[in-house]
Amino acid sequence: MTNENPMKGAVPLTFYEPQKTPRYANNVPALDSYGRRIDYLRVSLTDRCNMRCVYCMPAVGMQFAPRPELLTNDELLLAIRAAAAAGFRKLRLTGGEPMLRHGIVDLVRELKAVPGIEHIAMTTNALRLRKLAEPLKAAGLDRVNISIDSLDAQKFRAMTRGGNLDEVWAGIEAANAAGLTPIKLNAVVVRGMNDDEVIRLAELTIERDWEFRFIEVMPLTGVAGLADEGVVTSAELVAKLETHFGGLESLGHAASDPARTYRIPGARGKIGFISSVSDPFCATCNRMRLTADGRLHLCLLRDNEVDLRSAIRSGASQSEIEQIIRHAVYLKPWGHGLPEGIKPTLRGMSQLGG
Ligand code: 5AD
Ligand code: SF4
Repeated sequence: MTNENPMKGAVPLTFYEPQKTPRYANNVPALDSYGRRIDYLRVSLTDRCNMRCVYCMPAVGMQFAPRPELLTNDELLLAIRAAAAAGFRKLRLTGGEPMLRHGIVDLVRELKAVPGIEHIAMTTNALRLRKLAEPLKAAGLDRVNISIDSLDAQKFRAMTRGGNLDEVWAGIEAANAAGLTPIKLNAVVVRGMNDDEVIRLAELTIERDWEFRFIEVMPLTGVAGLADEGVVTSAELVAKLETHFGGLESLGHAASDPARTYRIPGARGKIGFISSVSDPFCATCNRMRLTADGRLHLCLLRDNEVDLRSAIRSGASQSEIEQIIRHAVYLKPWGHGLPEGIKPTLRGMSQLGG
């Protein structure tokens, strides 16, 4: 498969129309119209956050969804049961910051008990992880990805607009101690902000069995200006790291893991590069997103969505919801349109959870 993009133009929000929605076979894994098996759901639990990272939210003027618009825990569980019936096996809880969701530990326990759900991970800023790592692990959370863009307390505070590096570090250690492993750390690399820190960040993997992943900044709504000085590409970073550490050992990449991984010679951990902009991985995409307000978001970098919340609130049964999810999988676009200048405009990253 290539990354050519046969989807032209944007498709608007799709509402549930039982008469028009085709019937899909139950009891088979959901495939999209390009034959990709979609079995990984990234679930945004809230659009709120206790940080304001420069690459994720604008400094001011963020509008958050009023609470009645968010799926309740019962509605969310119904959606996840239906998704599991449609063949979804892995969940990632995202936000905003997922640990701001009220009752997160009990919610994780209930999600993990859904038949078919095999693995639950979370992407978090770690601010609440010192307290919650142990209970979340006990509730069934398998692992965490933690954002950490800088090891300099002041720069960290600037990039996250107020985040406390010590708290985050304590959260990382708590996750490690609780066995939320393998620990993966993420940095979004922004030119002129933290691109001078990549060597220091990569060095974290020398003595620790962690994976440190460098992510190309994506130009979503509210943060488009960040790429004005050019995206720091993975190729540029590999070159920089190789100048410092010598040749990196290539570890390839696992199917449907967007990160290409390497090892600094002799290091315990790995480094990974997520090249969403310079080298998209749409051909092996296995994921879909569920927003906190109950919409299936079909591709991170497109606006196409399918409304699940109205169906749930109009009393649809689990098997009807499963049909809508299967239909959404079928409607999944081939890939993003950044090379053709098509940018998503409806939602920012903080509503999509990366
Ligand atoms: N580009 C790339 N990744 C982003 N994230 C947030 N905003 C962006 C962006 N503009 C990722 C961060 C964070 C996760 C929640 O989403 O890696 O860890
Ligand atoms: Fe919050 Fe994560 Fe967005 Fe930073 S990247 S503002 S921690 S949701």
